[in-house]
Amino acid sequence: MSAHVYPMPDAVKTDARLNPETYASKYQDSVSNPEAFWAKEGERLTWFSPYSKVKQTSFAPGNIDIQWYADGTLNACYNCVDRHLAERADKTAIIWEGDEVDVQKSISFRELHEQVAKFANGLKKLGVKKGDRVAIYMPMVPEAAYAMLACARLGAVHSVIFAGFSPNAIADRVNDCGAKVVITSNEGRRGGKGVPLKPNVDEALSDDACPTVEHVVILKHTDVAYDMQDGRDVWWHELIGDCDTDCPAEVMNAEDPLFILYTSGSTGQPKGVVHTTGGYMVYASMTHEYTFDIREDDVYWCAADVGWVTGHSYIVYGPLANGTTTLMFEGVPTYPDVSRIGKVVDKHKVNILYTAPTAIRALMAKGDSAAKGSKRDTLRILGSVGEPINPEAWEWYYKTIGNSRCPIVDTWWQTETGGILIAPFPAATDMKPGSAMLPFFGVKPKLVDNEGQELQGATEGNLIIEDSWPGQARTLWGDHERFEQTYFSTYKNVYFTGDGARRDEDGDFWITGRVDDVLNVSGHRLGTAEIESALVAHECVAEAAVVGYPHDLKGQGIYVYVTVVDGVEANDELKKTLVQWVRKELSPIATPDYIQWSPGLPKTRSGKIMRRILRKIAGNDYSNLGDTSTLADPSVVDSLIENRLNR
Ligand code: WTA
Repeated sequence: MSAHVYPMPDAVKTDARLNPETYASKYQDSVSNPEAFWAKEGERLTWFSPYSKVKQTSFAPGNIDIQWYADGTLNACYNCVDRHLAERADKTAIIWEGDEVDVQKSISFRELHEQVAKFANGLKKLGVKKGDRVAIYMPMVPEAAYAMLACARLGAVHSVIFAGFSPNAIADRVNDCGAKVVITSNEGRRGGKGVPLKPNVDEALSDDACPTVEHVVILKHTDVAYDMQDGRDVWWHELIGDCDTDCPAEVMNAEDPLFILYTSGSTGQPKGVVHTTGGYMVYASMTHEYTFDIREDDVYWCAADVGWVTGHSYIVYGPLANGTTTLMFEGVPTYPDVSRIGKVVDKHKVNILYTAPTAIRALMAKGDSAAKGSKRDTLRILGSVGEPINPEAWEWYYKTIGNSRCPIVDTWWQTETGGILIAPFPAATDMKPGSAMLPFFGVKPKLVDNEGQELQGATEGNLIIEDSWPGQARTLWGDHERFEQTYFSTYKNVYFTGDGARRDEDGDFWITGRVDDVLNVSGHRLGTAEIESALVAHECVAEAAVVGYPHDLKGQGIYVYVTVVDGVEANDELKKTLVQWVRKELSPIATPDYIQWSPGLPKTRSGKIMRRILRKIAGNDYSNLGDTSTLADPSVVDSLIENRLNR
């Protein structure tokens, strides 16, 4: 299959960090001599005491042990804030663009230091110390970054919970890590509407459901008032009122945990992915610098949410470690209308824009109105992340947003990888719409068949990574066995990504999507099992099976098969109830698109649901269902096809 190839635009080529030759030789160097390569790269951080060890990693069965820079000490917050004070104190660290068009503010590195230090002292007053866990459930405001950095400053491990999650999901995450404090806001604002954050936290903590939580800190972001619980709740501004701006950064070991971030997997319980300090920071900083070819005066905008890993690595830790001005946007790309992104770019003279295909498709759906009212001529580089970008969306992004002048870096990576692993680095390569192209330094991607045999040349298979890189997750919180089971047991001695990929005749990678039971809905990662457990928790549901199907805007839609309990009437009223139920139990991002009543599900004789068949029916592509002879009752399939909803 030959793809249209776009050359790197000249504007980027002239003085980019990389060209095809320098990329190739640096890559070669990184994989043939990782020790020396990463020893040198580690110097990009400021260490309190230097490391003598660099890479100590094992993917061996029974001994998954990943350590980088293990005997060095440092502090992530110090690297993002304090060390810039000498040269960049007055430089803007964060530009905040509020939900409404005329609401904005700029925070210098000096102010960032003051705010973070004060808040860290506030947390100390609440008894937070090194090693404690702190949950952060915040809107996209600068205080979300202050909270993360303040935890890092104290050596407390933060766990940011996406502000779209419901009380149940909050409680699960808070309890899994045993958080001592929850930091939230009275209300968030998105697309002109209020999001009730404090009430969600109250509900999550009600009936002593989260016994480890001692305090809740509440940022007063809007004027909405909610009851405060005596002894437990404290306002952010009151907490820091008398706090000093002097708060020494804790000396942390490189392998001390920096944060936990929950993500969805194939089973019901979300996984607490653990990232540590040294390797993660080296990797976030380096990938940020190279992927976006960062310059000192750049204004850089990653339009993700801090509730996801992209917000951690590429709104907060990577850019701030590099002293880059990072823009935080509270709102949505379509509010007040689809011209918002372009206007924000012009207003703040944004040079680099990093967003998700789902946002691009939402704008593209409105023709060229997204480009109206803005010139976007400050843009130099565009980025894409979170899901495969279809060539139509790629071309539209390139031409309409980027005026055919800016390369698109289509970055493939995961919560577990900490940073970008595969991308078309400027100007290391030409671009092929839809292809993530080349591995980052030190990253060895390979394709294997279902038996784990390595596939050579132009081919398609399961994507594995052969060796460790500094940004890799170290474990799952409290469950190292599950870590091994999930990532290192399908194929031995390598990291299994859960993604499929194709490699073309030039050796470039095309990510084809998840090969496990993980969905990617509007760039949000969801486990089918999580949605299923929410559904079966409803008294009318006997059994539920959830699959994804191709969706024009969202990438994937959610298709649900439900068997009701005997005697329950399966009607439209119940469908509505179940939709509301899932939104409430889990999150509005998990809203089912279709619910099909299914008196029976296709199961093997051993009782295993054949999802392959359900996926095909949901995708309205049932002509070739493959072998159904192993089904306990093959007639179930005909009835499901007959009553399918996505036609
Ligand atoms: C998918 C987000 C294709 C992939 C950073 C991966 C992508 C999952 C891309 C991780 C891309 C991410 N092209 N697919 N450029 N980027 N994915 O953990 O399936 O929220 O496994 O991390 O998103 O999602 P997560």
